[in-house]
Amino acid sequence: MARRPLIAGNWKMNGLKADGVALAKGIAAKMAAEAPRCDMLVCPPATLVDAVAQAVAGSALAVGGQDCHAKTAGAHTGDIAAVALKDLGAAYVILGHSERRADHGESSALVRAKAAAAQAAGLVAVICIGETEAERDAGATLAVVGEQFAGSLPEGANAANTVIAYEPVWAIGSGRTPGIADVAEVHGAIRALAAKALGAEGAAALRILYGGSMKPANARELLALEDVDGGLIGGASLKAEDFWAIAQSCP
Ligand code: PGA
Repeated sequence: MARRPLIAGNWKMNGLKADGVALAKGIAAKMAAEAPRCDMLVCPPATLVDAVAQAVAGSALAVGGQDCHAKTAGAHTGDIAAVALKDLGAAYVILGHSERRADHGESSALVRAKAAAAQAAGLVAVICIGETEAERDAGATLAVVGEQFAGSLPEGANAANTVIAYEPVWAIGSGRTPGIADVAEVHGAIRALAAKALGAEGAAALRILYGGSMKPANARELLALEDVDGGLIGGASLKAEDFWAIAQSCP
């Protein structure tokens, strides 16, 4: 089953309007000059979703949010509804990133409710899962990832409205990555869990991204793995050249 890779940039809390618009336009221009072998997505801070979506409207570059609320509207000061992201031109939203699980105490149950809201709004939910270093050292990686996968996936999830991002917490922003065999093992395990949740066909079509210190120097090796269908990239997504080099590393 051929899955078209997705190369997704998670800009986190970085950039003001002029930087974000220039970065997104730079990536869209590269895509226009040479069609990549992958889908490409940028997820700017919520403050820039509108400007970035307008700047790249009509291009092949998709735009996403970094979080949304589980409710459509109401008394939730500071929160952002999935329908509001969609209204600005977003097509995706990252959910359950480890920084949100840690900084905002997000549980898998909450991530599942947010993912359901995102999908109901017509967004693709990019659901993040991954173990901490202590969990890996304790040999609990597959158990933790399995629990987060089962707990975060909403009913009604399918390969069209869901992307999974495996991000070992200790690899994020650290310059460290698991060994290639370890990445292959976890992605294979996620695919097997997906088969139980979505059926064989759904699992075969589901995109499972790797995230955590992916950069031009290691992308080719990671993206060549059978069950790695793209990347969720933080630091290296903030430079158009690096992000593009990663996209060019897709098999
Ligand atoms: P990183 O971040 O590429 O800077 O490690 C990845 C992420 O947090 O999504």
